[in-house]
Formats: sequence, structure tokens, C-alpha cells
Amino acid sequence: VAEASAPGKVILLGEHAVVYGEPAIAVALELRTRVRAEPAGEARPGITVNGEPLQEKGFPHVRQALRATGAQGPLALRIDSDLPSSAGLGSSAALSAATLGALLAAQGREARLPEVARMAFDIELATQEGRASPTDTTTSVAGGGVLVDSVEGPGLLWQFERDGKRWWLHRLEVPSLTLVVGLSGQRGRTGEQVARVAAHVLRAPQGMATVRELGELARSGVKALRDRDLATLGQLMDRAHEGLRHLGVSTPRLDELVRTARPHSYGAKLTGAGGGGSVIALTDQPDEVVRALRAKECPALVARLTTRGLEVRP
Ligand code: PMV
Repeated sequence: VAEASAPGKVILLGEHAVVYGEPAIAVALELRTRVRAEPAGEARPGITVNGEPLQEKGFPHVRQALRATGAQGPLALRIDSDLPSSAGLGSSAALSAATLGALLAAQGREARLPEVARMAFDIELATQEGRASPTDTTTSVAGGGVLVDSVEGPGLLWQFERDGKRWWLHRLEVPSLTLVVGLSGQRGRTGEQVARVAAHVLRAPQGMATVRELGELARSGVKALRDRDLATLGQLMDRAHEGLRHLGVSTPRLDELVRTARPHSYGAKLTGAGGGGSVIALTDQPDEVVRALRAKECPALVARLTTRGLEVRP
């Protein structure tokens, strides 16, 4: 039996713009997906997930991970996750990373982090119709804070190049931050939202300018984190929410939740793909933010950040 687990993440700044080569900052959350891979007896050929045969259309990330590792049945996979899906918290990246880790370990292969990060990114690309950045997958594999950039800088983890675009993935030291996550209750499908932004950028002349501005906000965010300047970081998050609204990935519900969190926060924004999913608030009054969000029927929690990335147990 081989087991692996990997964390979800929140994007502090730079989502969507990162798909176009702008920088983004993400941190891993102590909410994990665990995958166990057990060779099953010949009596049960094929591959099962949580006891059910893997269907042609089910679990696309798992099917891609099976293809990438060349894993064959009979194999029983067990998945359990603390992460809600389609909530902008990186559940699919965590699933990809943990499945790859468990499958490699089950084959007696070493799960090298740069290799798993590359494979998980390719899975994300395949399931998001070629439009994806390595942000979620690298954060899930590496844990802690991650800066994605189009140029090389200090703390380099690894780099990827696809279709003429290059991403340099860096370790970013993140000071202790209190973040509240609010779940909108709407499903935000990453592929759909990324396609929406692509259409908007093609159509609207100011679309690309908004993408560049979101990148600029992420660059300023790196400095604010280094200076431990939470007031500035919060302002950058507020402005990023406006940019994401212009790109068409916010919703009235997300706008309402952000407005609800702001009186008790340094700043608040949608996080991840949008169209639903989650908001994050940077605050030193987490109880007030949680209470205010819950009063709007929004499940909210104080995020625990983690430096633990992919962990594999053969
Ligand atoms: O899938 P989510 O909601 O965790 O966010 C993905 C972040 C995007 O920038 C929207 C897409 C990407 O691949 O970077």
C-alpha cells in the first residue's frame, strides 16, 4: 500500500494574470487530499476509486495521473479530502499531486518533487484545455509560499515552458498571516473561468491592460510580504478584486462577501478562478470576519497555512 497527501492553496495575488505570464503569489493551506493506492486482487481487475470502478468520464485528474505514470490495474484507490471542490482552493491540484505521489510510490519509484510538479502541471493543462499556469500544482507539491514569475529570481524551485510561455517557480517566505476563507457556495469551474478571461482579453481592448495591472499588484505584493506590510498587502488585494471583476470572473455573491469582510480586514478579494468559489480576507480580527460572513450564510474558516507540501509514504 502506498499513500500520499498534498495540500490545497489560496492565491493571494495574480490569479488569471498568471496564465498570461504575469506573477502570482500562492500559499499552501493545511487542508489536504490523501490518496491511497493498493494493488487489488486478480478477482477485481481494473481500477477502483473509493470502491467503485473508475468510469470513462469520472475523476479526470486521476485518469490523467494513471496515464502519466503508466500505472496498471488491478488497483484500488482511496481518496479522501478536506478540500471542497470547485471552491478555488486548489482541490484538483492537490488531487493530482497526491495521486501521482501514491501511484509512483506503489510502483516503487521515487516521487521527486520537480518531476511530480511537472506531471501535475501537465494534468492541469490537459484538464483545462491547454490554459493553465503551474501555480496550484507547484504550491501543492512544494507547500509554503510560492511566487510564480516570468523571470528567474532568488529561491528558484524549478521552471516550466509550454507553448512559448515560461514560468519560474520560486519559494517565497511568507510572514505569519491571518486569512479568513469564505465559501460562496457557488461552484467556480476553473476551465470555464479561464476561457471566459481569454474571450474577454481578445474582445475588450482594456482586457490585456487589466491582466498587466494584476501582475503589477502581485509584484508589489512580493515587496509588501518582504516588508511585512499588511496594510499595503490588503490594499493590493482590494485592488486585485476590482481587476478580477473587470475580467468578468467575480459574481454579485463574491462582491457581497468581499464587502462584508472588508470593515474588519486589511483587504479582501475573490481567490482562485472565481465565478463562485471562495473569497479571502487578510485580517487581524478573524473572529469578526468569520461572524460577519456567517451572518450572510457563508461558511467561513480561519485558514491555517502550511509549509508541508507533497508527502509520500511507500
Ligand atoms: O483552480 P483555482 O480556482 O484554484 O485557480 C486557478 C488559478 C487560475 O489562475 C485562474 C488558473 C491557473 O491555471 O493559474
